[in-house]
Amino acid sequence: MNNTILVYATRWGATTETAKEIIRTIKERFEIDIDLVNLKDKRTKNPNITPYDNVILGVSVAKFRWAKEGKRFLKDNREKLNGKKLFVFVSSGGAGDAYKANDMEKYEHLQKKWIDNTLKKYNLKFTSRKALGGRYVGNFADRGDNRDWGVIRNWAEEIGTIISSGN
Ligand SMILES: Cc1cc2nc3c(=O)[nH]c(=O)nc-3n(C[C@H](O)[C@H](O)[C@H](O)COP(=O)(O)O)c2cc1C
Repeated sequence: MNNTILVYATRWGATTETAKEIIRTIKERFEIDIDLVNLKDKRTKNPNITPYDNVILGVSVAKFRWAKEGKRFLKDNREKLNGKKLFVFVSSGGAGDAYKANDMEKYEHLQKKWIDNTLKKYNLKFTSRKALGGRYVGNFADRGDNRDWGVIRNWAEEIGTIISSGN
């Protein structure tokens, strides 16, 4: 039985890819398996997180909002999450643009806006969090993919170090 679950809410699939890279990195480096759950899938939209010590939540940010399944997950699991380690990332094209432009003030502002403030609303604390950039699609496709896979893997290693130490 794995003791870490990664739940995610995506619109166009970038969050899924980022989630899989995080899982792959942790498996490779720490030999830890992580369960992966899509909150948009009807069959898995209400995962039972009781058995897990560690929860990683990944959420798509677009149209100035979290994907709604991400918020619903926090709301439904507020009490259970209090006793667990919670790691949160967002796929945010805006944060990715700021990071690539080396505008750290803006990046930090967006990280607070899209992660810290949302968690505060639900009275939750995170163990670690990261705004990880995204991949624009549709009318915004020319803005491209601004994820930094090195940053993604480093954050995965940070999570792996924490969960493998078990305290
Ligand atoms: C229509 C549209 C609106 C977007 N709005 C925002 C936004 O308000 N803020 C932001 O940081 N990124 C925005 N983005 C970029 C998304 O964060 C990026 O596409 C992300 O990878 C989406 O994750 P997903 O593919 O998992 O849904 C937008 C992208 C699209 C296509």
